[in-house]
Amino acid sequence: MTLDNKISNLISLLGGTGQVAHHLNIKSSAISNWKKLNKIPKNKYNSLIELSNHLNIDINSFLNTNNLNTMNLNKNINVLLIICGGIAAYKSLEIIRLIKKTEIDLDIVMTKSAQQFITPLLVTSLNGKKCYVELFSVEDESKMNHIHLARKPDVILISPATANIMAKLACGIADDLASTLLLATDSKIILAPSMNPIMWNNIATQANYQTLVNRGVHFVDPEKGDMACGESGTGRLAEPKLIFNTLLSHLKKKNVLNNNLDGISVIVTAGPTIEDIDPVRFVSNKSSGKQGFSIASELADRGALVTLITGPVSIPLPKVNKIIHVKSAQEMFDKTFSELPTTIIICAAAVADWKLIPELNNSIIIDNNNKIKKLKNNNSILTFKTIENPDILASVAQTKERPKLVIGFSAETENIINNAKQKLISKKIDLIIANDVSENKVFGSDYNKVFLIDKDSCEEWDSQNKKNIAFKLADKINNLLS
Ligand code: CTP
Repeated sequence: MTLDNKISNLISLLGGTGQVAHHLNIKSSAISNWKKLNKIPKNKYNSLIELSNHLNIDINSFLNTNNLNTMNLNKNINVLLIICGGIAAYKSLEIIRLIKKTEIDLDIVMTKSAQQFITPLLVTSLNGKKCYVELFSVEDESKMNHIHLARKPDVILISPATANIMAKLACGIADDLASTLLLATDSKIILAPSMNPIMWNNIATQANYQTLVNRGVHFVDPEKGDMACGESGTGRLAEPKLIFNTLLSHLKKKNVLNNNLDGISVIVTAGPTIEDIDPVRFVSNKSSGKQGFSIASELADRGALVTLITGPVSIPLPKVNKIIHVKSAQEMFDKTFSELPTTIIICAAAVADWKLIPELNNSIIIDNNNKIKKLKNNNSILTFKTIENPDILASVAQTKERPKLVIGFSAETENIINNAKQKLISKKIDLIIANDVSENKVFGSDYNKVFLIDKDSCEEWDSQNKKNIAFKLADKINNLLS
């Protein structure tokens, strides 16, 4: 789509080619191309809007057109914002402001306690529309009943979300307008919690969090920092811009905005592999499969055709096109190659580097079909010969059928960034996600802190839920493919 020969001016307004390329995570040459062609690819519009919001620049008035915010926003997009009672309620005003800059149709519900912090009058003025507060309101029910309000939105955003609304949502309690809507909706729900760190870490809140995550509710996790109550820890509302961007990304996923992963084929390897020693013993590692499964699930949600090749795990299987269960590294290697070609491969599996061949002292022959027995005289020395397993990631990256995008993980306990960079180069891959897997840090946890490294840059992502990482990675992949 052409924007009246003004692409160059628009790019300058947004800080120039370098800044725009950096923000959109694309090469400067791509931006130069847009300028030359006076054309911007459709799938970049939202990133440009995000950048303009970030810079507080109204690109509509500059362009003298209302197009940019609406170009890939379907007119009928509706978002319901539920504001709960917490000090961070005032930050929802910024979220309203950001949403109002788009063509999204916004309805707002405030709980009783939210009204202790900000008034419905203020919210109504900002949104230019009635703010709903009562479940049993004769006037509201005659105009728009609560069931309609629950069915209408493409996404429901709760910000700030209190421990109370999380508990009610997890238990199915419907005792006010907000909780009743949540029970009556089949829309995507995003929660941005904010509360005192002890409340956030309370076993009940964490159990509710887990229940909701397992049901597909998306969280913009609270951040670490000083709280208004004087304490510090995890519980501060995420930045409004991040919450807004998450909302936009979910709208993309719902196909009301562009969804560029439609029909794209992806292989994801996940979980540990195990190497048998005898029929009852094996060696493996502590990978839970959570990060790989989250990625597979996120990409499938966005329309990608995902084949998940997983080692033995004990977590619920995600909804993807195809799941292949394997045990050993060799099996994972064979199955991966049998699924090529694909557009993308993401190797998140913690693959065993060696096969172990057991050997007993005194050159006693070991029968592979039976359990290895100790020697009668208490004198057994069991040793292992090692045979290196094939490197799946490196082999795929160097095969003729190389996917367009080859992404690996790097599990490190020291020199995280340097070691990961070396793997990126030696395995000839496009992107590596490095994490510190020292004791209790990643394996089995719902959280991960990662560095995204390519040949030119290293991005640090704060510690966050593995589903969030998958979500952001999917956005990144979207950018890389376009
Ligand atoms: N990988 C693989 N096949 C292997 C070993 C690793 O596909 N036989 C992939 C992993 O899935 C990951 C990346 O390679 O995406 C790096 O794995 P990692 O375990 O961090 O490193 P290794 O390559 O095994 O090297 P080292 O154990 O020496 O750190």
